[in-house]
Amino acid sequence: MFPLEDRWRFFWLIVPLLWCCQRGQSELKVLVRLEDGQITEESLQADSERDCITLEFQKADGTFVTYLADFKQGVKIFRVLILGELERGQNQFQALCFITQLQNNEIIPSESMAKLRQKNPHTIRQAEETKRMETLQMDVSVNFTKALQLSSHVHNICAEAKEAIYTRQDDVRTWLERGIDGSMFEVLPLYSTLPAVPPCKLCPWDWKPCICSYRLGLEWIPCSLKYCKSRESSGRSTSYKCGIRSCQKSYSFHFYVTQKQLCLWDEET
Ligand SMILES: *[C@@H]1O[C@H](CO)[C@@H](O)[C@H](O)[C@H]1NC(C)=O
Repeated sequence: MFPLEDRWRFFWLIVPLLWCCQRGQSELKVLVRLEDGQITEESLQADSERDCITLEFQKADGTFVTYLADFKQGVKIFRVLILGELERGQNQFQALCFITQLQNNEIIPSESMAKLRQKNPHTIRQAEETKRMETLQMDVSVNFTKALQLSSHVHNICAEAKEAIYTRQDDVRTWLERGIDGSMFEVLPLYSTLPAVPPCKLCPWDWKPCICSYRLGLEWIPCSLKYCKSRESSGRSTSYKCGIRSCQKSYSFHFYVTQKQLCLWDEET
């Protein structure tokens, strides 16, 4: 029923037969190696009804990363929960939320994700393609209370990051054109504004505002579908979805913080 070619032996899509009973939610867990060499389990949840995919993993230092692709609204949300250093007067954890537009060919559709199965769950996955690192100037803050319009998931995902939800002016422009309420956005200072706000790394005062940087790597994303050809008895060939291509993608976020205390990790890099 499902002839699998050897090069697609790791992943395949269980096509039409299971469609009827495979609606709604599904979860796939894959082992991946992070940048620091640590192995972690990445969880990929697809919800085809709500048309979204959630990718989550925890780093060795305890940092918990969530990436959510909301296809309905065309946005993606990154949430990072960073463990604080209590002895330095920080909170138990610090939460950051970054919201930006979902691009084409970034991740496969939720309904394909829901059908993805893994043959060898103990294999450590390595992405087939490494994408260029993206630098994002997150120069706008988003009001949590009003952000429901951007995505119904914001309230759930960004609840711990109410004071630290960021987006970009470019994204805001697109959203305003779509009729989204502009009063939820507030433009923040950046390097270029005067008086200049220094990068936190170069700022000697813990209590002064600065521009914080956070680097985030997604080691394994199913970024596009693979197609196989099959030949019908009539001799005509047709193509069908038979697997996925995986990608590695890193992001470098830059955002304003009111005090360097909120960006202590930047010091050590
Ligand atoms: C966010 O919006 C709510 C509702 O309009 C408002 O009460 C609140 O003051 C706003 N928060 C900020 C930080 O502007």
